[in-house]
Amino acid sequence: MTTNIIAIADVIHQRRTIHNFKADPKPPAAEIIRAIDLAVCAPNHHGTEPWRFYLIGEASKEKICLLNAELHGAARGDKSVQAKLDRWREIPGWLLLTCAKSANDIRASEDYAACCCAAQNLMLYLWSVGIGMKWTTGAVTREAKFYDILGIDPNAETVVGLFWYGYPAEVPPGNRKPAGDKIVQLS
Ligand SMILES: Cc1cc2nc3c(=O)[nH]c(=O)nc-3n(C[C@H](O)[C@H](O)[C@H](O)COP(=O)(O)O)c2cc1C
Repeated sequence: MTTNIIAIADVIHQRRTIHNFKADPKPPAAEIIRAIDLAVCAPNHHGTEPWRFYLIGEASKEKICLLNAELHGAARGDKSVQAKLDRWREIPGWLLLTCAKSANDIRASEDYAACCCAAQNLMLYLWSVGIGMKWTTGAVTREAKFYDILGIDPNAETVVGLFWYGYPAEVPPGNRKPAGDKIVQLS
């Protein structure tokens, strides 16, 4: 038991957001499915199971890369568009997590919270098997065309994150301050 607790603490402590991935090998699809199976073990008030996981294949990935390049070009000019496109195309693994929308505000925030717990489960499991992730919420994920590309109804679901994954080319250093300042001891 003690050994498991230490292993979990190590995974939590050592996980980092990965910005640069090795081009190959690509992580096995079975590990991604295993991670999703563990993601849905997240706490979930009322058992709403609000999460949806989209495994993004090459054709959809290419459409997202092009849409992002278009947005990037419009915002910053054409100069760096090709570099941006090349960089996005190099990212090996793509997964989208959405949350089912709710008309009830409390339900919506609890469902979003559950999806974030699911995302952390996903990232921690993958980290434990050597696979790194980056959770992104970039502008492209808020575009109507983005939902269109993936066949998602924006009235029914909202993007929690676009998750890039692969074997880390480098692992950035951690940047957390000790939690001491954030702890309030009450009588
Ligand atoms: C909801 C959410 C959205 C995020 N969106 C982005 C993003 O768009 N781009 C990015 O570089 N990192 C994004 N991140 C990753 C954070 O920047 C990252 O967790 C933070 O820098 C701390 O690094 P660490 O995960 O290695 O501890 C996001 C993280 C969360 C939780």
